[in-house]
Amino acid sequence: MNTLVKKVCLTAAIIGVGASSVQPALADTRHPSMNDNKILNIAHRGGSGYAPEHTLPSYEMGEEMGGDYIELDLQMTKDGELIAMHDETLDRTTDGTGLVKDYTLKEIKELDAGSWFNDIYPEKAKSEYDGLKVQTLEEIIQHFGKDKHYYIETKSPEVYPGMEEKLLELLDEYNLTRQNGPSSKVIIQSFSEASLQKIHEMNEDIPLVQLIDYKTNATITNAQLDHYEEYAVGLGMSFKKIDEEYVDKVRAHDLMIHPYTVLEKEDMRRLIEWGVTGMFTNYPDRLQEVLKEMKRK
Ligand code: G3P
Ligand code: CA
Repeated sequence: MNTLVKKVCLTAAIIGVGASSVQPALADTRHPSMNDNKILNIAHRGGSGYAPEHTLPSYEMGEEMGGDYIELDLQMTKDGELIAMHDETLDRTTDGTGLVKDYTLKEIKELDAGSWFNDIYPEKAKSEYDGLKVQTLEEIIQHFGKDKHYYIETKSPEVYPGMEEKLLELLDEYNLTRQNGPSSKVIIQSFSEASLQKIHEMNEDIPLVQLIDYKTNATITNAQLDHYEEYAVGLGMSFKKIDEEYVDKVRAHDLMIHPYTVLEKEDMRRLIEWGVTGMFTNYPDRLQEVLKEMKRK
């Protein structure tokens, strides 16, 4: 299969449509929203509007609230373990301080990754959040299983040589590197094109999403879209920077478009009307409600 055909098939598989038509594909009963609306509900750092980001309760909440994918950011410890954390430093989401790369997993496991949330959001605080542990990617896969869907970001890959190899090794071990159903089990995303290109060289089958950090309103040329199409199946960018014309252009190139991080229902509705194929949200329950409302329209 050539690269273009493969990409079209992957895109189709991810959004839950048959490769040769726009009809819904095999029903994925675990993820009905993919079939009903073809809009991916991506639980950003889990249900992180309700629980400390990147902890098991947050991911569990994301699942329970209708998230199709658990979104998680990767950092790497001094001893080369992939952990789920957004920041390069421990300071914001644990009671530790300093760079993740300067600590071993054993040291990071001693930290409290939940109390900060109770302190900042007393109205959402729960006693069980106190003392939560930082999770490794492997622990998350073991906890949720290889039938769940993971939308994994290589964060700061330039700081962590070997991060991509370790990620693919782990995914391979859990048989998550193949397309084995109507929707892909794993999508890998990054702001770093180099990181995605490296992954693409190692494994052309894993669907990749290029994140773009627009400083001003988003614009994109056909040449840029052609370039992204060579290795990625979709793009992600701040929902605040795009308009309907931008969405049209991306979709005309058969790339998925997953804006981040959408919190309010009116923004969700507008983006769906523009034709996005999914979105990152801290409130997967809100997106579920919007999808249901819009289906009734
Ligand atoms: O990965 C999509 C979105 O999460 C990118 O922003 O900073 O929340 O990782 P960030
Ligand atoms: Ca992310």
